[in-house]
Amino acid sequence: MTDVRIVEVGPRDGLQNEKQIVPTATKLALIGRLAAAGLRDIEATSFVSPKWVPQMADHADIVKSLHKHAGVTYPVLTPNLKGFEAALAAGASEVAVFAAASEGFSRKNINCSIAESIDRFIPILEVAGSVGVKVRGYVSCVVGCPYDGTIEPKDVANVAARLREIGCYEISLGDTIGVGTPASVLRMLDAVANDVPVEYLAGHYHDTHGMAIANIYASYQFGLRTFDSAVGGLGGCPYAKGATGNVATEDVVYLLEGLGCETGVDLAAIREIAAWIKAAVGRP
Ligand code: HMG
Ligand code: MG
Repeated sequence: MTDVRIVEVGPRDGLQNEKQIVPTATKLALIGRLAAAGLRDIEATSFVSPKWVPQMADHADIVKSLHKHAGVTYPVLTPNLKGFEAALAAGASEVAVFAAASEGFSRKNINCSIAESIDRFIPILEVAGSVGVKVRGYVSCVVGCPYDGTIEPKDVANVAARLREIGCYEISLGDTIGVGTPASVLRMLDAVANDVPVEYLAGHYHDTHGMAIANIYASYQFGLRTFDSAVGGLGGCPYAKGATGNVATEDVVYLLEGLGCETGVDLAAIREIAAWIKAAVGRP
């Protein structure tokens, strides 16, 4: 029995910041190999503006051309109704909306305030509900923000609670710039869990200071069972200067299996995929 869930965000969060456009065929091969290695949730792309994030401009082709493995979901990011409608037209069956705990990051990332972003998500949730599409919610900058500095745990709790209220089935808590430590992450989780029960929470940690695995371990002890990661530790956010990659999927699998969890993921296969995709995008 799989008692933990890993949401592989490599094809989206891992690649969105790559300067050189990665061929669509390489992205599709990556997604296919990740599914074959046992990952069951693979964030495939984002329906954002190609002017903002050129790397994700092939989003419709990605979703239309996906060779869908049985039992695998392929969520895509949608910042507004326009993106959601395009995702739906391409055949997406799960989406994610993304808010922030800081006003500064919200403005830089999606060009609106936190409250405006929630207002944009409500019609997505309404339509998604009527067509049976699940919606995940992200909160970015849950510990620190590149523009606003340290973030108060209660600000994270407020946004997480709003996302849950409007119907997101799960809230992924993003340490976008990877400044969290187990102590600050636990303070944040304590506040959030007052408003949103842990079974609805996921940890999305970037590894700027090498703390992501420690933060996952602390979050696991706190009760979280869903973690986002990117194969090979790829990643970074174009609107969070200095943020490095996501925690590496292979490290998360190693940690969780070592804790006695069954991830259902083939570690050797993931390591091979990591080496292959890093070579393909010219990463050391
Ligand atoms: P905007 O410029 O404010 O949008 O951008 P607008 O509504 O004023 O429209 C301007 C133009 O964009 C129009 O086109 C629209 O049609 C078009 P024009 O008339 O100029 O030709 N447009 C779109 N095109 C494609 N797809 C759309 C879309 N919406 C409008 N969905 C917008 C607002 C949200 C679109 C923009 O700011 C954007 O695309 N931002 C994306 C930023 C992004 O992708 N960031 C990275 C993902 S978040 C992240 O990495 C963090 C996370 O991993 C968690 C963590 O680590 O913490 C999730
Ligand atoms: Mg991220």
